[in-house]
Amino acid sequence: MQTQVGIIGAGPAGLLLSHLLSLRGIESIVLENRSRDYVENRVRAGVLEQGTVNLLSEVGLGERLKREGMQHFGIEIRFNNHAHRIDFAELTNGKGITIYGQQEVVKDLISARLAASGKLVFDVVDVSIHDLDSTQPSLEFLLDGVQQKLSCDFIAGCDGFHGVSRRSIPEDKLVCFDRDYPFAWLGILVEAPPSSTELVYANSPTGFALHSMRSPGVTRNYLQCPPDDSLDNWSDDRIWQELHARLETIPDWTLKEGNILEKGITPMRSFVCETMRYNRLLLAGDAAHIVPPTGAKGMNLAVADVAILDKAIAAWYQRGTEQLLETYSLECLRRIWLGENFSWYMTFLLHKFPDADPFQQRLQAAEFDFLSQSSAASKALAERYVGLT
Ligand code: APR
Ligand code: PHB
Repeated sequence: MQTQVGIIGAGPAGLLLSHLLSLRGIESIVLENRSRDYVENRVRAGVLEQGTVNLLSEVGLGERLKREGMQHFGIEIRFNNHAHRIDFAELTNGKGITIYGQQEVVKDLISARLAASGKLVFDVVDVSIHDLDSTQPSLEFLLDGVQQKLSCDFIAGCDGFHGVSRRSIPEDKLVCFDRDYPFAWLGILVEAPPSSTELVYANSPTGFALHSMRSPGVTRNYLQCPPDDSLDNWSDDRIWQELHARLETIPDWTLKEGNILEKGITPMRSFVCETMRYNRLLLAGDAAHIVPPTGAKGMNLAVADVAILDKAIAAWYQRGTEQLLETYSLECLRRIWLGENFSWYMTFLLHKFPDADPFQQRLQAAEFDFLSQSSAASKALAERYVGLT
């Protein structure tokens, strides 16, 4: 088999890249080791920056997003018994964010690719990368028990943090930066109407909690928990008890309960891999970087990477120039480090660090105080939350 761009991973990064390339007449094949049903129903984050919404709309993916996405123009931050609203519209000249689950973006992308006769191969096994030092790298994999080989001009590694792409780059060509956090997030999806019109982030004496939503009838809540915690320790009763205690810290606000549709625990990590390119292998999205979800940047960074990568690959086919491929990594990394910085800041502000001494606790409280008192501080947070471009 032969294609122009072999893409590993059918998450937002791989699918969007395939869609963008096809609009330019560049052919690709997406290889995914999970089933279609699995990737379409995997519950992930759901905050889209305006720039992400604009891009998806410009390339024909805005129809359901516009209809079902929930536009928000602020968030609330609670710290102990105080609350502070960050007014995005006022602080960023009318900008906002859109709440639309990542798996909805994935469903829209899959249906757009299939409608355009795009080639998506699910349930592949043992994908491996070969001939990276040549001009025709290849992918080998098993499909229905039969060994296959796909030769490509380029390989896009969009296979997330645990994929094979990053590990195929020689170790001496990579520098990785990481931070593990001493906590994880327990997330639940609930059949209940939202308790607020906007997202509520809370730092309470017993830890972080977030109240978010997916639609007028479905909410999404998160609780900080120990990093090695197990779902066995979290009965529905205990989850509700902790959510009430951590979120109901201001007068006249109650959290609406409902049937829990899904539960999961997500580790918290910051990670950046420099470089994102090795010859004709290009990494994008979680394959190259991870942010803790507190800043809601994960999917936005993945989308921004592939928008740049699409242009770089197109310039190679259309004008024969390698220049954008050469600058791909540097151009992405600038935005990625801004996203890392913001996600780290939000994580620091909002969590209870188990090893924090009283000095660190006072610094954290002072940061919230600063945010509440200074419109410049709130504006800085708002600009970074809605996205700098
Ligand atoms: N072979 C084929 N596919 C693979 C392999 C492999 N060896 N390893 C992983 N995959 C697939 C995964 O099953 C997944 O569908 O690659 C895809 C990667 O998709 P995502 O993890 O969604 O990553 P990405 O597309 O970069 O999107 C980033 O995902 O984790 C969130 O918060 C993050 O919102 C961000 C977004
Ligand atoms: C979500 O709705 O899943 C969500 C929202 C905001 C975050 C993280 C996750 O910071």
